[in-house]
Amino acid sequence: MKRYIAVIAVVLLILTLFTGCGNGSGKRIVRISHVQSETHPIHLGLLALEKYVEERIGDRYDVQIFPNELLGAQVKTVELCQTGAIDFTVASIAIMESFDNIYEIFNLPYLFDNEEHYHAVMEDESITKPIYTSTDESGFEAVAWYDAGTRNFYTVKKEIKTPEDLKGLKIRVQQSATNVRMMELFNAAATPMSFGEVYTALQQNVIDGAENNELAIVNNKHGEVAKKYSYNKHQMVPDILIGNIKFLDSLNDGDREVFEQAFDISSKVQRENWVKAVDEAKKEAEKMGVVFSYPDTEPFRKQVLPLHKEVLEKNEKLKKIYDAIEKKREELKSSNGQS
Ligand code: GCU
Repeated sequence: MKRYIAVIAVVLLILTLFTGCGNGSGKRIVRISHVQSETHPIHLGLLALEKYVEERIGDRYDVQIFPNELLGAQVKTVELCQTGAIDFTVASIAIMESFDNIYEIFNLPYLFDNEEHYHAVMEDESITKPIYTSTDESGFEAVAWYDAGTRNFYTVKKEIKTPEDLKGLKIRVQQSATNVRMMELFNAAATPMSFGEVYTALQQNVIDGAENNELAIVNNKHGEVAKKYSYNKHQMVPDILIGNIKFLDSLNDGDREVFEQAFDISSKVQRENWVKAVDEAKKEAEKMGVVFSYPDTEPFRKQVLPLHKEVLEKNEKLKKIYDAIEKKREELKSSNGQS
């Protein structure tokens, strides 16, 4: 019976997706995919986008959000967005480097000093715009960013206190060559896979650990298996909302304006909910028996810092952006009276 219902659900989904049925009103269905649960700040941000659009131009647009990898893992949905099979998807910037290598910049470990630096860069259009539009010719561009916190290691057995503890461990990373290289510098064995595969991989000892923000521990239940979470803080990699260019270009000026405002609102709502969600996730994780530890981050940083030079030398697009990020760091330091 369950299987029967599942088959029907899939058939209905395919019908809705590719023929537009299920909506006899003639409205344009706008499909947005993401990999998180319905309580995740990204889903809340997208609900705000849906509400904003539908309250204004809902007579013509029906925004539909597909959470939980329902339409596929991130790399797949970026491809769907590229071809126009769906209109928008949320992706971690980590996987975007295989679509345009300008995105490698955000995979550099210890790129930002702290949240303030990270947010200031993401809010500076002169830095982000050339990156967001780099994929225009491939059929899509980024229209908003979402906070995905700080990535840290978490493991099933061995607690990560120093970089040496990572030696020989199999650690899941996102599908990104830069992340694989980072793990090589940590002397660990990088195991790239999509987000949805991580829980089972942890459970079946295919991997010894993974790296992510605190929400993965609770929302994706990784903390049921991996109980040792160590704040080594190696990356702050944002998520982005990307949109199909043909769809965006098909909008008249008024509709485009509504969508643009909705993108900003989704970003704002997501980030307002982020801080709260991380606090709650930590409390929840502790109840699950997850132990948080706070190692000295400096030895971790030292070990992977050569990656900056290595990547910058190979990819000449990055120097300008890297310098702008450095400049932002200096500006913040002097405005905070630190220099
Ligand atoms: C975070 C991020 C996701 C990403 C995931 C991952 O949850 O927000 O966009 O898919 O990490 O590690 O795959």
